Amino acid sequence: MRRLAVYPGSFDPPTLGHLDVIERASKLFDGIVVAIGVNSAKKPLLSAEDRLQALRDSTAHLPNVEVDSFEGLLINYVQSKHALSIVRGLRATADFEYEFQMAMVNRRLASEIDTVFLMTKWEHSYLSSSIVREVATLGGDYTGLVPAPVAEVIHRALGKLRG
Ligand code: PNS
Repeated sequence: MRRLAVYPGSFDPPTLGHLDVIERASKLFDGIVVAIGVNSAKKPLLSAEDRLQALRDSTAHLPNVEVDSFEGLLINYVQSKHALSIVRGLRATADFEYEFQMAMVNRRLASEIDTVFLMTKWEHSYLSSSIVREVATLGGDYTGLVPAPVAEVIHRALGKLRG
């Protein structure tokens, strides 16, 4: 049996912390589906297509990783993929409450699917998409915080924003 896990997130934008979690997870499972949750109520910095392409380019060196997007309930998507696990990254304690709630709700919806938490590298433990968005939109240097293909799409998105 192929052990498949889904790594869901907004990935707006994907950071080096996300990539670190993907690389770790790709060693633990036979296959990883990085799944971009598309929430039409939110106005993201990067379009779903940009996030999809940038994540595909950033994970091209990992043959057992695919990138996809989903709308609606995560657990329905995980079941449609016949995956056994959900992977989430965990940074400091601040993440715990939200992650605990999500894991419990998802278990209530589908008890056969477990959430597995992976810690990012120490040097990425302060990184978040919202921090990268803030640095980028305020004109700071974000290039050392995200994979190179992501930096490119952020650069383009900021260009469009500024007209
Ligand atoms: O990177 P994020 O923003 O913390 O990712 C959150 C995400 C997309 C994984 C979460 O919002 C999600 O699963 N959305 C789909 C809707 C859903 O299934 N909600 C119930 C789970 S609590």
